[in-house]
Amino acid sequence: MERTQVGIIGAGPAGLLLSHLLALAGIESVVVELRSRQHCEQRQRAGLLEAGTVATLRDAGLAKRLDVEGIEHGGIYLQYAGERHHLDFRDLVDRTVTIYAQTEIVKDLIAARLAAGQRIDFSITDTSVSDVDSSRPVLRYVDEAGAARAVECDVIAGCDGFHGISRAAVPDVVAYERAYPFSWLGIIADVAPSTDELIYAHHPDGFALHSVRTPHVSRLYLQVPAGEAIGSWSDERIWENLQKRFALPGWTLREGPIREKAITPMRSFVSTPMRYGRLFLAGDAAHIVPPTGAKGLNLAVSDVALLAPALVAWLRDGDPSLADTYPERALRRVWRATHFSWWMTQMLHAVPGDAFNTQLQLSQLRYVTASRPAAVTLAENYTGSAPA
Ligand code: FAD
Ligand code: PHB
Repeated sequence: MERTQVGIIGAGPAGLLLSHLLALAGIESVVVELRSRQHCEQRQRAGLLEAGTVATLRDAGLAKRLDVEGIEHGGIYLQYAGERHHLDFRDLVDRTVTIYAQTEIVKDLIAARLAAGQRIDFSITDTSVSDVDSSRPVLRYVDEAGAARAVECDVIAGCDGFHGISRAAVPDVVAYERAYPFSWLGIIADVAPSTDELIYAHHPDGFALHSVRTPHVSRLYLQVPAGEAIGSWSDERIWENLQKRFALPGWTLREGPIREKAITPMRSFVSTPMRYGRLFLAGDAAHIVPPTGAKGLNLAVSDVALLAPALVAWLRDGDPSLADTYPERALRRVWRATHFSWWMTQMLHAVPGDAFNTQLQLSQLRYVTASRPAAVTLAENYTGSAPA
């Protein structure tokens, strides 16, 4: 039997950052990951970081490339009924957000862990946990070479995302869930963004979002019905729909080669408690939000920013009090983000045949763009400065 202080399941942003923060405080960990390193580094996902997320990465010495390549945005555009309105976050809440893709964060984190001599076991199978309600929980898996491994830990951190195994090891779970009748079709296109800041567009045909990755690469999303197959969306059909939903006199959406396209279902989900015995959950393993509020990655980072000091206080200094209150403190922020993501989603997505809903959405959008207090509410939630 091997031994470590913290066994971490999952090399996504949550697991990798946790390992890094623990190491800075002298706590040893083992990270195990189902997928290959290449897969983890290339999986296209989120791209928008709250100022608090940037600060966490910077304080941990992880922002060298982020500080050079990250693109600071001072607001967003909300488009509806043929009008485009700017919300200026600097003016409203004195905050900004930063565009830096999750792929790049994961690359930076993996590089930092390996440079520090950290072990990350990629391409493993058969992950399981046992004895999590004892003082010596055990993490088991089969490594890339096919050897069965068992690691005795002080604590196990389930950072294995929505489809991981950790959540199932928590008995008597109470889960809260909302499924939405639509998905997002996301593309990465090799074309300079047609906008300086993100455009969230309400349209009778469905929501569309223009995001960016670099000065030469655009990220765009289209609302499509739930269960839609990517095969029925040719590049031509995608651009046609994007052109229609973003159309505005005097403004042009530039087109370019589509490098990647995929459809993501939308769901709100919160599983409680986020701890059982010596098993702690963080990130998507415990909760997911629809991407409209850009909160998924930011929540994974904020969970870990609470969990790491709690584990350090317990394992290094013998004080369990922060670990005891971790679930409650994390969930307050999770629920604020869950509400905001739900609210943005229902304000912006078309529900075919529901004309009453459309009128409510348009009224809400007019209110948010005309009333400073309403705009401040959106801005403080979007930038992550809203009290939880
Ligand atoms: P993950 O990044 O999911 O990492 C979990 C890791 O655990 C994975 O590497 C997985 O392979 C590994 N794992 C799973 N099971 C096991 C096991 N049994 N054993 C070992 N390892 C295991 N958010 C946005 O804000 N905007 C977006 O556009 C956006 N798009 C998304 C698209 C998709 C397809 C998905 C799934 C999520 C998207 N998100 C988006 C959400 C955001 O990417 C997540 O909130 C974020 O990745 C959470 O990080 P995490 O570390 O908690 O989980
Ligand atoms: C992204 O850039 O991928 C992105 C940005 C904002 C969102 C969702 C996704 O709300």
